[in-house]
Amino acid sequence: MSPTKVIFDTDPGIDDAMALLFLKSSPALELLGITTVLGNASIDTTTRNALFLRQHFDIVAPVARGAAVPLNGVIDPVPDMVHGANGLGDIPLPEINHSALHGLEASRFIVETVRANPGEVTIIAVGRMTNLALALRLDPEFAPLAKSVVIMGGAFGFNGHSGNVTPVAEANIHGDPLAADEVFAGNWKVTVIGLDVTQEALMSNAYLAQLRDGAGADGQLIWDMTRLYAKFYHDITGVDGVYGHDSLAVAYVIDPALFTTRSGPIRVVTEGLAIGQTIQQPDSRQFRPGPWSDLPSHNICIACDTPAILDLYMNTIVDAA
Ligand code: BDR
Ligand code: CA
Repeated sequence: MSPTKVIFDTDPGIDDAMALLFLKSSPALELLGITTVLGNASIDTTTRNALFLRQHFDIVAPVARGAAVPLNGVIDPVPDMVHGANGLGDIPLPEINHSALHGLEASRFIVETVRANPGEVTIIAVGRMTNLALALRLDPEFAPLAKSVVIMGGAFGFNGHSGNVTPVAEANIHGDPLAADEVFAGNWKVTVIGLDVTQEALMSNAYLAQLRDGAGADGQLIWDMTRLYAKFYHDITGVDGVYGHDSLAVAYVIDPALFTTRSGPIRVVTEGLAIGQTIQQPDSRQFRPGPWSDLPSHNICIACDTPAILDLYMNTIVDAA
């Protein structure tokens, strides 16, 4: 079977870097482009980081720079206590060759790449949904031409996970709730990998040491980057290791059978106390007409096979090293 064509929309970000290494190592996936968005750091920093990772991981696909501000124009402080001031755990970074930067802005790149490969491109979006929403605004007709959209974002309360920025909101959705609500209203097939499953997949420090020892320079890079990230998680939750977050979106595209899903339209709270909360109306029962009526159904992931996902991640990267 030919590999699935993928656009990776990202805000690197330590777990973004881990997911990109997984993606580029998988024979099941073909990376067509990396599009950047603000989030874990400013757009200048996430774009610089994407260019660095492209160079370090020997990726051929281009990087297209994306949104610098969310749709509501409100830029939150960057989460440097999570990802470091440079977005990659404050490891030293070399000079970056900017010649790999694509001439198109990210949303235009997404539209044109999907239109050039109708029915074939899966968009894996692991940052704020700003570029995707801008792509829908740019070309409202292009959405059904995407094969699928798989996002890391949101939280629906399964397995005790409901938020990481506020008690009800996950970071990628909280950072641009309007964009996420527009993406969920789009006429495409979306699968949501939220905290419900990503916080079930802890990569322990022992697991990361095994990756470091088995995956050469790339394994060492992931180890170095994750030191700050692991300290953050240890300090706030007491866990030993880091959550796989963005890598689970890649795992879903490689092997969806590792996840259990529930279908139904999804809305995002766009203002007030619960801003950024994601709420699905399950298709399995009827409700009175309301904000979810006449919207497309999407899948949310409510459970996953954690040991199999961790094995898939480790084996894919070590085999390719
Ligand atoms: C998400 O937020 C970002 O910090 C991570 O890169 C991940 O995409 C987790 O909530
Ligand atoms: Ca991310």
